[in-house]
Amino acid sequence: MEIETIDVDEQIGEVRTILRESDKKRGILIHALQKIQEDYGYLPEDVLRKLSSKLDISLAEIYSVASFYKMFYFTPRGKKIVKVCLGTACYVRGSKKVLNTLEEEFGIKDGETTPDLALTLETVGCFGCCGLAPVTVINEEVIGEIGPKKLEGIINSLKEREEDEAE
Ligand code: FES
Repeated sequence: MEIETIDVDEQIGEVRTILRESDKKRGILIHALQKIQEDYGYLPEDVLRKLSSKLDISLAEIYSVASFYKMFYFTPRGKKIVKVCLGTACYVRGSKKVLNTLEEEFGIKDGETTPDLALTLETVGCFGCCGLAPVTVINEEVIGEIGPKKLEGIINSLKEREEDEAE
């Protein structure tokens, strides 16, 4: 093909169309991933496979996009998400002890979920409420100034909820 015969406008037009199509798919993909996670609490592989064929995007690309965002999870999570802050203010006020105690009580480590899917334990860098250190958030509930007594209350309440749900 001679350089002079290339119709630049036509070529750019095609590229624009392609870009628009891929942008559209990517936009739909993120939204679909959010919806799947909302419904399942994580991104199950079999659902991602269906999404892959529906949107005609490879499974590898879906995983690549999803793993870019910290908000997506690839394994089931607990009904209660317990997040212990290990930021500096919380750390110096004993949040590591809070984490260690919760790990021992529920037999899971940071990032793990109990086998009955009742509880997931996670750590964060800072919740932005350092004045309440040490802070732990259980689902949306912020619990600050956690001393030994409060920690005992948190553990009892989490265990009670576990038992209630098992009944
Ligand atoms: S360091 Fe824990 S809330 Fe900021």
